[in-house]
Amino acid sequence: MPALVLLGAQWGDEGKGKATDLLGGSVDYVVRYQGGNNAGHTVVVGDQKYALHLLPSGILSPGCTPVIGNGVVVDPSVLLSELSGLNERGVDTSKLLLSGNAHIITPYNVTVDKVTERFLGKRKIGTTGRGIGPTYADKINRVGIRVQDLYDESILTQKVEAALDVKNQILTKLYNRRAIAVDQVVEELLDYADKLAPYVADTVLVINQALEEDKVVLFEGGQGTLLDIDHGTYPFVTSSNPTAGGACTGAGVGPTKISRVIGILKAYTTRVGAGPFPTELFDEDGEALRRIGGERGVTTGRDRRCGWFDAVIARYATRVNGLTDFFLTKLDVLTGWEQIPVCVAYEIDGRRVEELPYSQTDFHHAKPVYEMLPGWSEDISKAKSFADLPKNAQSYVKALEEMSGAPISAIGVGPGRDETIEIKSFL
Ligand code: GDP
Ligand code: IMO
Ligand code: MG
Repeated sequence: MPALVLLGAQWGDEGKGKATDLLGGSVDYVVRYQGGNNAGHTVVVGDQKYALHLLPSGILSPGCTPVIGNGVVVDPSVLLSELSGLNERGVDTSKLLLSGNAHIITPYNVTVDKVTERFLGKRKIGTTGRGIGPTYADKINRVGIRVQDLYDESILTQKVEAALDVKNQILTKLYNRRAIAVDQVVEELLDYADKLAPYVADTVLVINQALEEDKVVLFEGGQGTLLDIDHGTYPFVTSSNPTAGGACTGAGVGPTKISRVIGILKAYTTRVGAGPFPTELFDEDGEALRRIGGERGVTTGRDRRCGWFDAVIARYATRVNGLTDFFLTKLDVLTGWEQIPVCVAYEIDGRRVEELPYSQTDFHHAKPVYEMLPGWSEDISKAKSFADLPKNAQSYVKALEEMSGAPISAIGVGPGRDETIEIKSFL
């Protein structure tokens, strides 16, 4: 019954797509359990580069069944265009399963996301503008539209009517926008019904049966621990639970079924959008990390904010996710620095603090306390084993492992599938 959760340990973009794809060959099912097309996962296979937003990265492994779980929010137009894009490149997507309980990102949810951000002005979250927050808000408010609603026109119409009753008031009276017509939305949504029908399934049943049959199931998180609605840097977060518990609710499996929780951890830190980021760099080192690491958003094309590794955050991710392992990515990006600062604690209003403060005010005041680790200049992109790494790179990894509270079981030394050092097998 091997069930693995693979999730981001920082603010997203840690390299989850690559890590999932790497395991995809030995996994029977890959399940996305939260988020939507706010995610952007780059997977490099040979000389081919794929950008996935909604589809689980396992879609690129022929033997693997990709599943979009009940906890995901689905923009049907994005899903269909992602599928046809892959089909055009010869990728077979026919095995995809889509939960009938997943909520749909409607066109009005996308509109509300954009106008809300504009309205917030300087206080904006910097969302991806994909309608994620408003769709989860509708779900919690019990006015959401689910995939299964596409197959009952009468129910669909009633639900769209109920949702737009309130939304049109807000759009017209508060935001000075035009009202959205119920008929138009219903027509657009019904148009997706037949196209999505081959994929719709009782995914909870399928996943649990697979586990009973000892199949290997990998739960793939979008975003990251610090973007979690409960455990992240609220309000500068996404509107779902990327943390490990989210895999249980977002896929419909009990916590007793999960055997391993792998945190994907970048060898430095990045973040997109607004919100606190203690180790953020505003100098040429930050510029160099961005340039060498190719730190530009896959979804929005925005430059990612870059900074040094933050061990306080890594420890926090270990704790709130119950991590059993780390997959350290992008170690190769740090090649060439004489010394590499690592944040080991924060100074908050004159006090040294070892753990992430729960208070937002404290976190906004946190200043990094750095320890300097010696760097290396050798090219490490061809390293196949830990012993192939220069001594200082080995020490860097060991130091991070000690500070972060879980073993580092794999190291990424390049974007390709084979540019990985496996220390301990995940399966
Ligand atoms: P995700 O959202 O967590 O899947 O990560 P993204 O795909 O948004 O960003 C990670 C980027 O780093 C992608 O462009 C990957 O191809 C790339 N990448 C992943 N692992 C490594 C690595 O070990 N080294 C290098 N140089 N690039 C990597
Ligand atoms: P992957 O899966 C990085 C950020 C947005 C914004 C905040 C809320 O590629 O790691 P939302 O549109 O979700 O309401 O935006 O969350 N964000 C991400 N940042 N990687 C992601 O996904 C992200 N998905 C959302 O930039 O700050
Ligand atoms: Mg990404």
